[in-house]
Amino acid sequence: MKKVIKLLIIDDDDFVSASLSDYLINKGFGVRTASNGKDGIMSFEREQPSLVLLDQKLPDMEGVDVCQKILAINPNAKIIFITAYATVQYAVEAMQAGASHYLSKPFELDELSITIDMALKNVQMEGKLRVQDYEREKDRREKKLIGSSEVINRIKEQIELAAGSEATVLLTGETGVGKNVVAIAIHDLQAKRETYLTINCSAIPENLMEAEYFGHEKGVFTGAETRREGIFELSDGGTLVLDEIGDIPMHLQSKLLTALEDKTIRRIGSGRVIPVDVRVIATTNENLEEAIREKRFRQDLYYRLAVLNIHIPPLRDHPEDISEISDYFVKRFCRRPVKIPDSHIRKMMKYPWPGNVRELRNVIERAALLLQGDEIRPADLLLQDSLSSPLEKSSQKTMNIREIIPLEEVKKRHILSALRACSGNKSLTARSLGVSLSTLKRKLREMNIT
Ligand SMILES: Nc1ncnc2c1ncn2[C@@H]1O[C@H](COP(=O)(O)OP(=O)(O)OP(=O)(O)O)[C@@H](O)[C@H]1O
Ligand SMILES: [Mg+2]
Repeated sequence: MKKVIKLLIIDDDDFVSASLSDYLINKGFGVRTASNGKDGIMSFEREQPSLVLLDQKLPDMEGVDVCQKILAINPNAKIIFITAYATVQYAVEAMQAGASHYLSKPFELDELSITIDMALKNVQMEGKLRVQDYEREKDRREKKLIGSSEVINRIKEQIELAAGSEATVLLTGETGVGKNVVAIAIHDLQAKRETYLTINCSAIPENLMEAEYFGHEKGVFTGAETRREGIFELSDGGTLVLDEIGDIPMHLQSKLLTALEDKTIRRIGSGRVIPVDVRVIATTNENLEEAIREKRFRQDLYYRLAVLNIHIPPLRDHPEDISEISDYFVKRFCRRPVKIPDSHIRKMMKYPWPGNVRELRNVIERAALLLQGDEIRPADLLLQDSLSSPLEKSSQKTMNIREIIPLEEVKKRHILSALRACSGNKSLTARSLGVSLSTLKRKLREMNIT
């Protein structure tokens, strides 16, 4: 779904205004006009066009002043000056006021069209930069759902089903099972949806979260120097993945519910309701039913999200895929033919894989680094052996009274080394420690670990 680009023409010459407007509407732009500075600024406030064509001389104001007022509302606005009196001095003034381009009358419509294209390229580039903060395009391209077990085939069927509808999807499953891979697969099957953005609900400080979701107007809180669009607006016409939805704070849950139900949002500090067409996919490795019982998650939001629930089982439930997935990663990381002996595959099929496919991927990546020759040796496949053995070793040792460490300190050290072992991945750490992600986060806060 292509977004209509909005333009605003501010010119007191009705003939110029009407002919430009006809030409631009024909090119597919959404056009508004205003015939004086004051109306122009008001229209800009209301419509927030991407681009403004601004006459140099208006009945009530100088074009340069209008330009400055518009940029004060939105510093990213692109303004093309149009003038009948082409003087170098005026051009300099216009550029100093922040105009991005300058056209002197009379001009050819082709010339206008090229200038608009140039100005919009800038808008798109700025927008893209923000989008990339979330998107990490590169990660996406290398993701593909591998496997041919019954488990994976069933998920592929559910992906097709989801792609055929516009309903909200909830993806559940342990860490590393491929929830984000599935989200991408759903998106890729929906050709009409362009952008694919992900926002991690646990990675954003709670006080900034609402602004990140829904955007804010200029000056509504300290730090809000400019108006900023939230991720819902940025993904208009596309897919939005809300990662780790279980971590979204209560007060935002009701706002999210409204956004999903009404398909509209409201920026902080604005009464204006903005329609958004977004396909929402939420993921979680938490048990949301438990979170509902503990009153940490709204039941109505859960029902709203889980219109379609795709549960992805852990890797240990479909070990028959391990061989195919390993081959896939070996090909990717070794870039030459390398064999994994059957005996290793059998060993891997018995391993419980607490970090699921992500852990398998990491094991293969490390093996690829250690690789000598064209066969992966057992020593290269470093599977974490039974998690209980280091504990057993330490508890068998007789302790000297001075060696006794306070229990809280032991906990802290244990959590820290678990975090290190999981390369800082909190979801995986929580899972390996057998606690929920929110419990882990609470402990980290209590222990002042950042
Ligand atoms: N079936 C699969 N085929 C190929 N790669 C997979 C598969 N499942 C997962 N992966 C890979 O495993 C890694 C983890 O996958 P992903 O990020 O989708 O997991 P997740 O379920 O979202 O985990 P988390 O809950 O920690 O966010 C990625 O590198 C992904 O490409
Ligand atoms: Mg994920």
